[in-house]
Amino acid sequence: MPLIPDHIIQEVAEKNDIYELVSQYVSLKRTGSSYIGLCPFHNEKTPSFSVSPQKGIFHCFGCGEGGNSIGFYMKIENLSFYEAVKRMAEKANVELPKADSFDYHKSDQRRKERELIYEINQAAADKFYENLKNSKDAIAYFKGREIDGAWAKRYLLGYARDGWDDMFTHLKNKGYTESDILKAGLIVGNDSGKFYDRFRHRVMFPIFDERDNIIGFGGRVLNDDKPKYLNSPEGPVFSKGKNLFALNIAKRTRSDTVILVEGYMDVIALAMHGYTNAVATLGTAITPDQAKMLKKYFKEVVICYDSDGAGRTATEKAITIMRNAEVKASVMYLSGGKDPDEYIKKMGKDSFNTALKGRKTDITYLIEYFREKFDINIDGEKVAYIESLIPYLLLVTNPVELDVYVNKLSSITAVSPQALYSQLGIKKVSTPARAEKTAEIKRSQADTGRTKLDKAREGVIALILSDINLYAANKTALTEDMFGDGAAGEIFKYIKTLYDEGKRVDVNLMMASLSEEHIKTLSRILSIDTHISDEGKAMKDFIRIVNEEMRVAKIFDVLNSGSVEKLNEMIKKNN
Ligand code: UTP
Ligand code: MN
Repeated sequence: MPLIPDHIIQEVAEKNDIYELVSQYVSLKRTGSSYIGLCPFHNEKTPSFSVSPQKGIFHCFGCGEGGNSIGFYMKIENLSFYEAVKRMAEKANVELPKADSFDYHKSDQRRKERELIYEINQAAADKFYENLKNSKDAIAYFKGREIDGAWAKRYLLGYARDGWDDMFTHLKNKGYTESDILKAGLIVGNDSGKFYDRFRHRVMFPIFDERDNIIGFGGRVLNDDKPKYLNSPEGPVFSKGKNLFALNIAKRTRSDTVILVEGYMDVIALAMHGYTNAVATLGTAITPDQAKMLKKYFKEVVICYDSDGAGRTATEKAITIMRNAEVKASVMYLSGGKDPDEYIKKMGKDSFNTALKGRKTDITYLIEYFREKFDINIDGEKVAYIESLIPYLLLVTNPVELDVYVNKLSSITAVSPQALYSQLGIKKVSTPARAEKTAEIKRSQADTGRTKLDKAREGVIALILSDINLYAANKTALTEDMFGDGAAGEIFKYIKTLYDEGKRVDVNLMMASLSEEHIKTLSRILSIDTHISDEGKAMKDFIRIVNEEMRVAKIFDVLNSGSVEKLNEMIKKNN
């Protein structure tokens, strides 16, 4: 893999001090030889993000992100490896060899493609914004919705002119190719192979990703024509199910709650009234991916959908998605306006705030809402009412929480909690989805919770990295098999190859060659404090634990395989 020469990577990483770099983005406090602060890569209230200037690394004990200064810069600025090294080289006055004397990774090429699309989208958004300033119609439209120039600027709202190739010509004149403009989704081709602007005579809402790149647009008609909104097509950077409108703004509030609404205009109207912690889906139902994104930044999702039937149905779906993603969700139902935009403009901020304060937990909302749909004085309807809630109660995994809802339902229906529980029990056995889900949780917990074996392996690596003599002294005991075929195995092989050739290990070069997941493991290993009194003994202990744990694992494998032959063979060997 021809890449940037090693000595350049080393020099760039060393000259860009990790502490100096990180403190431009994060406020850091000293603790001993390292620094801690609030992690910029996930939302947290107590600091678990640590920076070690001595080791030249950062590591978050909360979300697991980690790496050296190059890795930090890549992540925080959303840059490719090459782009990050290039910019850091400029800052540190390190001269880079000419670009054609080395090549990029394949993945770097995909990144390049994405970066070009961001750039084209940005140019388009700037042009739409300029158009808006010159369009009486568009300005009047926004004014009619109480959006003035300052708010238009804040969201970079714009206007797509009426015509066939206004944007196409503009972007071609800026030097972008037809094929790249097509990839950005700003033009569409007709049957005879001619291209024309996708967005014409529409007010425009740029859609940003979490890192402030413009990934696409939503365009609204100025009247009652159909379709009301037209969105960018799915493409290399735009995916409706994996992004949320205004998440880039909402995440900066560091609020515990996020208000989830249906429309772009709802988000903007709420922001104009002080609620900048609002996001919207992009014209589709909320997805598990989007739920996970919200979980990263917020503690609670307040579902605030339109008050019509479609909004109610979408609320039920969103509750299921949030429960499955283990995201705490609540519901705010707004009577007095068809959507949050209309409501807050008509009823005012105070009224909205009262409704926000009075939000119901997801299940409480359903118990109360479904109650209105049935006449529980009629036995059959009472049963149907309870039945309709069962699938949702089955999503509640916390026993205390479940008990609260069962008791609530019991007091509404005068059906005993025992009967409700046994109804849940019957369904429990016959609902494969739930069993599957429990298994999935167990699996994912096993993945994140590291075992004794993992920890011992990482301990060995931390020690040999800190002192080559510890490697030399235990060389025969240290086999590649010991480290498995995951991150630890990769890292050990890398170290072993160099040590066996009598070379030293450069952490920055190692990081440049490892995958992102493996870099996280490495940064965790490097964060282990190896200043202990008896390193030699610790090393022996770790090696012993690794071997013991692996032997036990092997015995379990044989027992699970149910093969008597294998078992006998193993017993013979051990005697
Ligand atoms: P709404 O119809 O509720 O739109 O659709 P809205 O935001 O209230 O629109 P205004 O207030 O009349 O301007 C909610 C969201 O669904 C998507 C858009 O993302 C919109 O914001 N949508 C709607 C489409 O993608 N296409 C459509 O034709 C309509
Ligand atoms: Mn609306």
